Amino acid sequence: MIVAPSLLAANFLNLEAECKMLNESEADWFHLDVMDGRFVPNISFGLPVISQLRKATTKPFDVHLMIEEPEKYAEAFKNAGADHLIVHYEACRHLHRNIQQIKSLGMKAGVAINPHTRVELLADILCDVDQILIMSVNPGFGGQTFIPHTYQKIRDLKKIIHDCGLNVLIEIDGGVTVENATALNHAGANVLVAGNTVFSSPDPKKAISQLKNS
Ligand code: DX5
Ligand code: ZN
Repeated sequence: MIVAPSLLAANFLNLEAECKMLNESEADWFHLDVMDGRFVPNISFGLPVISQLRKATTKPFDVHLMIEEPEKYAEAFKNAGADHLIVHYEACRHLHRNIQQIKSLGMKAGVAINPHTRVELLADILCDVDQILIMSVNPGFGGQTFIPHTYQKIRDLKKIIHDCGLNVLIEIDGGVTVENATALNHAGANVLVAGNTVFSSPDPKKAISQLKNS
C-alpha cells in the first residue's frame, strides 16, 4: 500500500516539523490539496506554500487540484515541485488535452472523481493516466465521514483496469482510517490518502505504519 498523508490536516504553524515527521515515517508521498473556492466551497493553499515545502523533503508531491481551469496552472505547479498532478473529471471540459499537457510537462497524471461520478466514465482516459483518485467524501474539507459506496466503485474500477490490461493506481481520498484501510486494500485500492487519521493521531508515525501495513 502506498500511503500519502494529506497536509491539509497538518499544523500550519509548524510545517517544517510536520515535514520532518513525514520524512522519518513510512509515508510514500506528500498529498497536497489545492482548493480555489470555486470548484469546491473552500480555499486551502497554493503555489508559494508548495514551493517552500519542496525544500523540506525529497518524497514525491502528489498534488490534488480541486480547481477550475487547471490547465492555466499546470506549468506553475510543475515549477513549484509537483511530481503528480491530479485534476478533477468534473472540472475539465477537455480532459484528454489536460492530461497530455500534464504529461508533456514531465509529471505523472491523475484524474479525480467526485462521489457522484461513475467510474465507467473513465474508460476512454484510463490508458493515458497513471492514477485515478476516487473521492470517498465530497471534496473541500478534511475530517468528513467515509462514503461506503466507495468500496463498490473501487471493485468496479479495478475490473475495468484489469480488463484493459493497464497498470493504473487506484487512490482513495477522504475519511480513510486505520479501521477501513484493510477493507480498502481488499477492494483493490493502491494508494491511501489520510489527513486527520495521521495528523490528529497521538502517534502519527504509527498511524502511517498501520495504514501502510493494512
Ligand atoms: C478533501 C481532500 C482530502 C482531505 C482528506 O477535499 O481532498 O485530501 O485532506 O482529509 P481526511 O483524511 O481527514 O478525510
Ligand atoms: Zn486530496
